[in-house]
Amino acid sequence: MPSEFLVRTVTGLEDLTAAEITEAGHLVVDVTKRQLVVEAAGPIATRLADDLFAVRASVPDPGRTKAGLRQAVARLTAHLDPGVPISVTASFTGARNFSRHDIEDAIGERLGVPYFSRRHGAPPPGTADLRVTLDGKTMWLGVRPQPTPLHRRAWRKATVVGSLHPPVAAAMARLAGIRPGHVVFDPCCGAGTLLVEARIQEPGARYHGTDVDPAAIRAARLNDPDIAWRTEPGEPDRMLANPPWGVRLPADAVPSAGWPEAGRLVAILGEGQRLDRRWRTVAEYPLTVAGRHPRIVVALIGK
Ligand SMILES: C[S@@+](CC[C@H](N)C(=O)[O-])C[C@H]1O[C@@H](n2cnc3c(N)ncnc32)[C@H](O)[C@@H]1O
Repeated sequence: MPSEFLVRTVTGLEDLTAAEITEAGHLVVDVTKRQLVVEAAGPIATRLADDLFAVRASVPDPGRTKAGLRQAVARLTAHLDPGVPISVTASFTGARNFSRHDIEDAIGERLGVPYFSRRHGAPPPGTADLRVTLDGKTMWLGVRPQPTPLHRRAWRKATVVGSLHPPVAAAMARLAGIRPGHVVFDPCCGAGTLLVEARIQEPGARYHGTDVDPAAIRAARLNDPDIAWRTEPGEPDRMLANPPWGVRLPADAVPSAGWPEAGRLVAILGEGQRLDRRWRTVAEYPLTVAGRHPRIVVALIGK
């Protein structure tokens, strides 16, 4: 019996995540900003999604007004008994005359169990995380079946300034099309997020990463001791790169001129950043992540 899930994504990764989930045999029934609605054929294993919630209730989207919100919340929660303390995170698309906190408090106050607002910090262990979204058509209420958000990775023991959001790294690895036997190189690996995520997707390739900063190499080793850190292969088949994009930089601030030539390069660049002229961009994916607007660039050498 298929069951319904809300799959939450980074803005800009909706279609790539839908493709990953469809390939795994599930049915994506709707795609809106940051969200897929999925009829699952079994457990959903996704590296690209930010988080996953089992749908418990849905009603038509109430629109803009607070009165409409109150009525919708009453219908949404009518047959719901979480049985344990709850926290609620809400989000919506479009203009509304209420805030996400109004939604969270309205749900929390109706359910008859202790409610912890996330405004006051992390809720205690044993609390069920409810997720409410209004996508313009439907108001959804889901419960996170897993104990922690999907984007939180068990392998991540160390980070550096600018460490990449793991689902974004997973999307880049997918775009790289890494196959068994490929040699894959990250020339500015930081704490190693790109190669660690790539290796989880394709353990049959060989991975090399390096960085000017020795502290980054130490962090990367903690995250995956089995990758060849601080080494640079002569002729990689694929390259993954996340150069620093802390400030608006001139094009030559991307250190790509010193990178070896690879069969395909997948880089994430900040606003205003460009690869050097050897690389021909074949696809771009604009994202919004942590309030920034980088883009994933897929590039080939020459002509
Ligand atoms: C945005 S961080 C990479 C973060 C990494 N993807 C992660 O998730 O941890 C950029 C990295 O590039 C490194 N870097 C800057 N200039 C470099 C250069 N010329 N060659 C190699 N690495 C460089 C920095 O030390 C930093 O660790």
